[in-house]
Amino acid sequence: MTPPELLFIHPEHPLYPEELELRFRVLREPLGLPRSAVTFPFEAQSLHLVARQGSAVVGCVLFHPEDTHGGRLFQMAVTPTLQGQGLGARLVVALEEELRRRGFTHVHLHARSQVVPFYERLGYAVYGEPFEERTLPHRHMRKTLASSILPGPRSPEA
Ligand SMILES: CC(C)(COP(=O)(O)OP(=O)(O)OC[C@H]1O[C@@H](n2cnc3c(N)ncnc32)[C@H](O)[C@@H]1OP(=O)(O)O)[C@@H](O)C(=O)NCCC(=O)NCCS
Repeated sequence: MTPPELLFIHPEHPLYPEELELRFRVLREPLGLPRSAVTFPFEAQSLHLVARQGSAVVGCVLFHPEDTHGGRLFQMAVTPTLQGQGLGARLVVALEEELRRRGFTHVHLHARSQVVPFYERLGYAVYGEPFEERTLPHRHMRKTLASSILPGPRSPEA
C-alpha cells in the first residue's frame, strides 16, 4: 500500500469530520470521554495536518499559534493499525517544516508521560513538574526550531 499522503486542511475541508473521528477514536474514546470532548475552542485558528490513506484520515497533528513566535502542538494521533511505522514522526517533522516556513521558532506540548520518548526522539525536552490532564499523567515538553534557511552567500571582502 502507498504511504499516507500528508496535507494541511481547515475545518471547512471535507476531510475534517474524518479527522475528528480519528481524534475521537484514538484520544478520547479509550478514556471513556464523549465526542463532545474532541474539539477545542481554537479549532479554526489552528493548523491541522492530516495523513490520508484513500478516503480515510489515519493520522493527524494540530498546532495552535499562541503568539508570532510559537504555540502548542496538540491532538497527535495515529490510527492503531499504523502505529509504530514512522507516521507519527513524519507528521511532526512535516508540521515543524511548515512552522519554520511561517517563521515560528518555538513549539510546546503536553505529552502523555508514556509517550515522552516519542517526542524526545524528535528533539523535544521535558520541563517543569509532572501534571495530570484528563486523568492521565503528563509532562510539559518544548523544542526550539532551528532555522531551515540556508546561510546566504558570503558578503564580498572589502
Ligand atoms: C504516540 C503516537 C502519535 C506515535 O506515532 P507512531 O506513528 O506510532 O510513532 P512512530 O512510528 O513515528 O515512532 C517514532 C519513534 O518514536 C518511538 N515511539 C513511538 N511511540 C512510542 C512510545 N509510546 N514510547 C516510546 N517510544 C515510542 C518509536 O519507537 C520510534 O522510534 P525510532 O525512531 O527509534 O524507530 C501514536 O502511537 C499514537 O497515536 N498513540 C496514541 C495516542 C497518543 O498517545 N498520542 C499522543 C498524545 S501526547
